[in-house]
Amino acid sequence: GNGKKIIITIDGYSSCGKSTLAKQLAKQLGYLFIDSGAMYRAITFYFLQNRVDWNDEDAVAAALQNIKLSFIFNEATGKADIYLNEENVEPYIRDLIVAEKVSEVAAIGAVREFAVAQQQEMGIQKGIVMDGRDIGTVVFPAAELKIFMTADPDVRVQRRFKELYEKDQHITIEEVRKNLELRDYIDTNREISPLKKADDAIVLDNSQLTLEEQFELVMQWVKDATN
Ligand code: DC
Repeated sequence: GNGKKIIITIDGYSSCGKSTLAKQLAKQLGYLFIDSGAMYRAITFYFLQNRVDWNDEDAVAAALQNIKLSFIFNEATGKADIYLNEENVEPYIRDLIVAEKVSEVAAIGAVREFAVAQQQEMGIQKGIVMDGRDIGTVVFPAAELKIFMTADPDVRVQRRFKELYEKDQHITIEEVRKNLELRDYIDTNREISPLKKADDAIVLDNSQLTLEEQFELVMQWVKDATN
């Protein structure tokens, strides 16, 4: 490759390992990694904290005016932390309280417009890996490399359970399974920008792949896309 900077989009179901892959790629390539789901989670966190009734369009519009999101790179984790009105909200946005409501909030048109505009701005200089649900279809339809990730539902439930367990969250496998199924259902069936594979996206099913195998495969795609 000639080192041309590109945009890499990674979309897919919940807990397929999108952000793990995005982080590895960004590190290897010296790219910016943006977890777009963190934006929807931070907005949901704000709505919950401030008791915003998100079924009320005016309340949503007013609330969005008071929300400023930014990302600041965290050396320790190797990814950008999301800040909500200058506060690092990473510690809160992965909690189940947020996870249970985020798909509902992410289905709201005004919320998506708010988030997508900022996402597109972050990609202007290219050299970015962004993961989410509509990145290859809506946010960066002209991206040079689009990946659509999927994995066995059982594998995904186990992975997410382990992740939450390690964070000491008291949650059962069944709760994790219900939450994942519900989120996938809402994300795939919502009216605005539903989760779907872009026509020109490459499917990556990682149920049977080790992280190393996956990375090697995707780096080959990156080479092809930057040549
Ligand atoms: O990737 P994640 O699980 O952190 O995403 C949280 C929720 O945000 C997910 O249920 C769907 C929504 N989302 C979205 O609608 N569009 C995106 N680009 C990213 C996330």
